[in-house]
Amino acid sequence: MIDDNNLAQSLLVNKEDFRKTMETNARFQELMMMYRCAIREIQTKLEILNDEFKTKNQRNPIDSIRTRVKSPASIFDKMQRKGFEVSIQSIVNNLNDVAGVRVVCPFISDIYAVANMLISQDDVEVMEVKDYIKNPKPNGYRSLHYVVIIPIYLSSGKEYMKVEVQIRTIAMNFWASLEHQMHYKQFGNEEMPEIVNELTVCADTIYNTDVHMQEIREEIHRLEHPECL
Ligand code: GTP
Ligand code: MG
Repeated sequence: MIDDNNLAQSLLVNKEDFRKTMETNARFQELMMMYRCAIREIQTKLEILNDEFKTKNQRNPIDSIRTRVKSPASIFDKMQRKGFEVSIQSIVNNLNDVAGVRVVCPFISDIYAVANMLISQDDVEVMEVKDYIKNPKPNGYRSLHYVVIIPIYLSSGKEYMKVEVQIRTIAMNFWASLEHQMHYKQFGNEEMPEIVNELTVCADTIYNTDVHMQEIREEIHRLEHPECL
C-alpha cells in the first residue's frame, strides 16, 4: 500500500530535502501514524501486564516506559549509513526500529518476566532477539532487545508493524543514558581505548550492583515467605 513513485530521485540524497519532502508526503505521514499506533498497542500491553503483576505481587515489574518514532532525519541517516535505498518502501523493508519502546525495570529478573509475558501473547510475533545482558557489547552495554511484529487495525484492515522493544534495568538505563550523552564514538575506539575501558568498568560495576540488589530482594522475600523454602 505504500509506494513512492512520486519521490524525485534528487530529493533522496540530501537530508534536509528528505525531511522537508516527508513533512508533506501523505504516504510517509500515514506510515508514521501506523508506527505510532503500533507503539500504542505495545505500550497498552505492557501497562496491562504491569497492572496485573502489581495486583498479584504488590510491586511493579516496570518502572517506566518511553516511546519514540524515529525522526525523518534519523531515518535518512540510518538508511544512508547502512547503504539502503532511501525510499518509503525501503523504510518498511529495512528499518526495524522506526517504532521504539524502551522499558525500564527495577530488577534483572523483571526484564525476563516482562519480556516473556509480552512475547507469549498470541498477536506478538518475535522477529529478532538480542540478549545484550547474557552477551554484553564490548563497551559493557547491557539490555534485552526484541524486534516484534504486531497487528494494528485500520479502517482498511489489518497491518503488521515492526516495533523495537528494549528492556533494561534502571541501572543499565543509567549507564546507557550517560554513555549515549558522551558522544565519544566520533573519535573511534582506537583513539579512545582508555575511555572505552573506563566505561566498561562502570558498566560491569553497575551490573554487579544489579545482581546484588536482586539477591537482597530475594533474601527479603525468603524472610517474608518462610513457607516458600
Ligand atoms: P543499529 O544499526 O544501531 O540499529 O544496530 P542494530 O540493529 O544491530 O541494533 P542494536 O541492537 O545493536 O542496537 C540498537 C539500539 O540499542 C541503539 O539504537 C541504541 O538505542 C541501543 N544501543 C546499542 N548499543 C548501545 C551502546 O553501546 N550504548 C547505548 N547507549 N545504547 C546502545
Ligand atoms: Mg536496530
